[in-house]
Amino acid sequence: MQHPIKYDLYDASKSYEDNYADGPFFNASKPKRPAIKGKMKLWNWELNSPIGIPAGPLLNSNWIKFYAEMGFDIPVYKTVRSVAHPSHPSPNCVYVNPENQIKLGEKPHLITIHKPQNVEELTITNSFGVPSKPSSVWMEDVAIANASVSEGQVMILSFMGTDGADGRDLVSDYAYTAAMAKEAGGKILETNYSCPNLCGGKAGAIYQDADSSSQISKAIREEIGNSTPFMIKIGNLPYEQLKTVVKANAPFVDGISGINTMPGEVRNPNGQQALPGEGRLTSGICGAKIKDVSQDFIEKLVRIKKELNADFTICGVGGIMTAEDFVERLNAGADIAMSATAIMCDPYLAQRYHEKEQ
Ligand SMILES: Cc1cc2nc3c(=O)[nH]c(=O)nc-3n(C[C@H](O)[C@H](O)[C@H](O)COP(=O)(O)O)c2cc1C
Repeated sequence: MQHPIKYDLYDASKSYEDNYADGPFFNASKPKRPAIKGKMKLWNWELNSPIGIPAGPLLNSNWIKFYAEMGFDIPVYKTVRSVAHPSHPSPNCVYVNPENQIKLGEKPHLITIHKPQNVEELTITNSFGVPSKPSSVWMEDVAIANASVSEGQVMILSFMGTDGADGRDLVSDYAYTAAMAKEAGGKILETNYSCPNLCGGKAGAIYQDADSSSQISKAIREEIGNSTPFMIKIGNLPYEQLKTVVKANAPFVDGISGINTMPGEVRNPNGQQALPGEGRLTSGICGAKIKDVSQDFIEKLVRIKKELNADFTICGVGGIMTAEDFVERLNAGADIAMSATAIMCDPYLAQRYHEKEQ
């Protein structure tokens, strides 16, 4: 069954700032959740379900509160930085038309299209450049966001380092921002090693390199101590490379999440670069057409975890458009699973999962 796109909770015709200030845009009814039959354990928390929303669409506490009420039990607060950082100019999200599933290692050339009819067909590119409010703003807002989730839910706080922020190098700033995230009340921290929208900056490809990623993970762990669960967000890689990266990071992390968006070149039908500005021909592709790569990532990660006899939580992200996609990712061995692109148009996705599973 297909689900027609009826809502734009993130209004892509507006700027990131307008969405931050006034979103999510929604005035339909909130569903009544089926009775919760069993809880699942995620570190110290007993949760109502293993499903959530990854770092990105939930811009601040208003967004966290709304989607937690819609039944997404593990919302992630969009990636923050130690210093204020502007968004790339809008548009930040456009619909694209990959004919086929995007393959690992491929850098597809994509054309923008009008909005598709159904959630199941939705593939977008998003390109924000990881904007961040000043730390004083997000630190205060994180406390409000934490307080807005209900029993059986927990919020994860995503953060990343900024090379040169107040004179700190990239590694130092990752650790510094981790300390701020913990101080702000982040219960579970996740760091982003895999954003393709940084216009050539170093931070987007950290996940491909075992040495630099593990050096940062170690610095973060030393900074936050052992009491706060800490996850890294990475992208898919060929099996042996992924195994090397996982092996190098495993001693320092409690969880691994993936995948992030995949880089693609996006043009308008007339051949012009779709998103305005230098370095933005390439941007991150997400939604339906990255489903196979995401599923492949989880299958590999499960195998690697076993082969290394390692102990970490696995979070499946990418191309989850339906309740069945959540189930597929969890059945493949993910402990928790999250959807970003689909929920921007379909806030009832969690409810459909709960009705199916509970
Ligand atoms: C609007 C939007 C903003 C995003 N911003 C971030 C971010 O700040 N940090 C991050 O780690 N990933 C970010 N992502 C990537 C998502 O967390 C996710 O990895 C990716 O979209 C794949 O999932 P999907 O196919 O369900 O969209 C963003 C995605 C979207 C759609």
